Amino acid sequence: MKTITLTRQALNRGSLLLVNASHPLPESVAPERLTPFFGSGVLLERRTSLVLENLFETLGLGASLIPVSGYRTLNEQKQIYASSLAENGEEFTRKYVALPDCSEHQTGLAIDLALNQEPLDFIRPYFPRDGICGRFREKMISYGFVERYPEGKEDITGIAAEPWHFRYVGLPHAAIMMLRGYCLEEYIDYLSLFPAEGPHLEISVQNKNFEIFYQKLSETDGSVTLELPSSLPFQASGTNAGGCVVTLWR
Ligand code: DAL
Ligand code: ZN
Repeated sequence: MKTITLTRQALNRGSLLLVNASHPLPESVAPERLTPFFGSGVLLERRTSLVLENLFETLGLGASLIPVSGYRTLNEQKQIYASSLAENGEEFTRKYVALPDCSEHQTGLAIDLALNQEPLDFIRPYFPRDGICGRFREKMISYGFVERYPEGKEDITGIAAEPWHFRYVGLPHAAIMMLRGYCLEEYIDYLSLFPAEGPHLEISVQNKNFEIFYQKLSETDGSVTLELPSSLPFQASGTNAGGCVVTLWR
């Protein structure tokens, strides 16, 4: 076994970070952790960008889809919120624009995509369910992306259905969310049923075996100390909801 200690700062990162109206961004993303998606003006967190580029290349999506909005700074989110309020009013804005510091665009893990056709709507890009967009949706799960604001989950996410907004959560998590029909809020709640000291979630996804568990952060300094098998690759992500999710590749 090996003992790993993760600081509160390390746990302010990770692909399972929950950011919504009741879970504001814990810490802004360091610029060196961002990269331009396909060299465009749209920035994404490095792994998110790399995986999405692979997915675009596999499907030959280059000219068909437009990256509309990826990483946003706090100031950009403030501006988008203010200009939408002025142009579209309060009801629309509350539905489709997250409050500043409560937008997962500020993590670099989310991207809005549009089908490449005029006119381009910045707040509600057109991303239909069929054609090339349908092919993207079919394939994205195996690359670790989910549709973050599904229809029917508005009361939980606090955001209206946004069929254009995709979020990187990684594997096996995207596949489990899809299988169970969970949005990210529900998925984080579900994982907390598998604490380190209890039975862990064991699941096979794409012919690989995974073991997942949830560790609460220390109440004194927000860190976690994990006892992990020395020989297994693992990933740990903060949830921004009081815990850390550990994924082991078995
Ligand atoms: N449109 C999403 C909810 C955002 O503004 O982050
Ligand atoms: Zn979005």
